[in-house]
Amino acid sequence: MTTGSAVPPLSVTDGLQNFSPQELRSLRDEFQQFLLEYRFGMQEIETKLQILRDEFQQLHDYNPIEHLSSRLKSPDSIVEKVVRKGVEPEFSAIRESITDIAGVRVTCSFTQDAYRLFDLLTAQDDVEVLLVKDYIAEPKPNGYKSLHAIVQVPVFLSTGRLMVPVEVQFRTIAMDFWASLEHKIYYKFASNVPAELLTELKDAAQTASELDAKMERLHREVRQRPRIVRI
Ligand code: GTP
Ligand code: MG
Repeated sequence: MTTGSAVPPLSVTDGLQNFSPQELRSLRDEFQQFLLEYRFGMQEIETKLQILRDEFQQLHDYNPIEHLSSRLKSPDSIVEKVVRKGVEPEFSAIRESITDIAGVRVTCSFTQDAYRLFDLLTAQDDVEVLLVKDYIAEPKPNGYKSLHAIVQVPVFLSTGRLMVPVEVQFRTIAMDFWASLEHKIYYKFASNVPAELLTELKDAAQTASELDAKMERLHREVRQRPRIVRI
């Protein structure tokens, strides 16, 4: 695969006249191949998490993952980020600088499970941790909580082994509920969210954290009690 060619511009009508139809087809193919590598990396991480979930269920009769989802960044979002971050519009530079093209989200019932899954995934010897941002221990000023990790996994292609970065987010159901509402609000107000709404959101984040703590306490208590078997 070549790594030095330019990425198609964001606006379809802007700049395309500089390319011949053959060059455009070749760019399209290269972009599709580029995205495919991230899809494979994402699938590797998903499989690892599914195995951990199924093994946990088998060994402990307990499922630490409530929901597993994944997404590939759209070509438009990639181009938008390339422009926003001032990255060279070349595949090699994008590979280096944009590490959230493949994303996996792990939603757990309890904070403890989020950390446990993070530990189990990152302890695997083919998983290389590039960056960790612990917004659970240190929430963002707006109240956002989640544990983020950029990891690299090997993908074996016909051309050989390729390390692919994947962004993995671990959070609880309550954190996820808050983040998805906050995201919708930001989208609706085009980032100009009224101050009182921001205060209410921060307050809701606190309520979500308290709920997480309470549920985790209850869960621990219930697990410590002996199971009652009816005869
Ligand atoms: P991006 O350029 O947005 O990818 O951010 P970043 O490179 O600084 O990384 P960060 O770890 O802060 O955020 C990565 C991702 O986490 C985002 O793309 C969102 O999916 C999620 N995220 C981070 N902060 C927030 C937040 O305040 N609210 C919500 N709803 N999601 C967030
Ligand atoms: Mg992102």
